[in-house]
Amino acid sequence: MKLCIPPLLCLAVAFSSAFVISPPHMWTKLILTHHWPSTFCSMEKPACHPNISYWTLHGLWPDKGIVCNSSWHFNSSLLEDLLPDMKKSWPNLLSPSSASFWKYEWHKHGTCAAKAASLNTQHKYFSKALELYHKLDLDSILKKFDIVPSATYYKLSQIEGVIENFYNVKPKIQCVHPSKNPDVQILGQIEICLDPDFTLMDCEKHLTTEKMSKGDWKNLIVDDKASGFSVCDLNVPVYYPPLPSTHERTN
Ligand SMILES: *[C@@H]1O[C@H](CO)[C@@H](O)[C@H](O)[C@H]1NC(C)=O
Ligand SMILES: *[C@@H]1O[C@H](CO)[C@@H](O)[C@H](O)[C@H]1NC(C)=O
Ligand SMILES: *[C@@H]1O[C@H](CO)[C@@H](O)[C@H](O)[C@H]1NC(C)=O
Repeated sequence: MKLCIPPLLCLAVAFSSAFVISPPHMWTKLILTHHWPSTFCSMEKPACHPNISYWTLHGLWPDKGIVCNSSWHFNSSLLEDLLPDMKKSWPNLLSPSSASFWKYEWHKHGTCAAKAASLNTQHKYFSKALELYHKLDLDSILKKFDIVPSATYYKLSQIEGVIENFYNVKPKIQCVHPSKNPDVQILGQIEICLDPDFTLMDCEKHLTTEKMSKGDWKNLIVDDKASGFSVCDLNVPVYYPPLPSTHERTN
């Protein structure tokens, strides 16, 4: 159980050192974002290959800044040793053999994460994201507590509960809300948050404006809309979709 109950107080304690040391332009939180390939691909048909039945990395995002250095180009030859793991853990679901997804993530988020000394090279950024992904091992934790893809719907509180109990922090869970069927939402993305020292911390359900400039704020809203994900509704059943059948996939 969590020792510190009032969330604001917990945050204040967790954050106090970061606030004091960090210059105002610096990010104060990292968001490790996982997505569920079947759900992602259900929005991106027909280019997508939803043949992966584990949570994969979407990105490691600082809470502040987008495209912080557009002249810092992605270079996969700096990441040779990481590429096998990246292909498995951080695959480009739209185009498995292309580096475009990593390039995009580096350009948009990595160059901002790189303001911290701990993430100030491409190798540091990508290897830290992989390290955190493996350390958290979200896919195994969900399975271990019987949250598995299923034809039966879950309550959001079941999924959230497993994550909160195990990691002792609040995740942000995002769903796709199909316009044709308001009685169900599809589990799509799970974010787990960390402080600048890579210690787990609560994610906030709603972004707070005070930590973001107007430009960041606008970008993030556009980003959310474009991705098709929004925070899951507590009162709507959650569908955690299995892989499409093998037969469908070979077509
Ligand atoms: C998924 O399918 C793509 C394209 O057919 C292939 O390149 C990739 O290796 C497959 N991934 C897995 C985990 O089977
Ligand atoms: C942006 O990245 C380039 C290439 O790595 C580097 O030379 C330059 O100093 C960076 N600019 C800033 C403002 O960090
Ligand atoms: C990518 O990195 C490698 C290894 O450091 C270097 O030799 C190469 O010139 C770089 N490529 C580009 C396009 O910067």
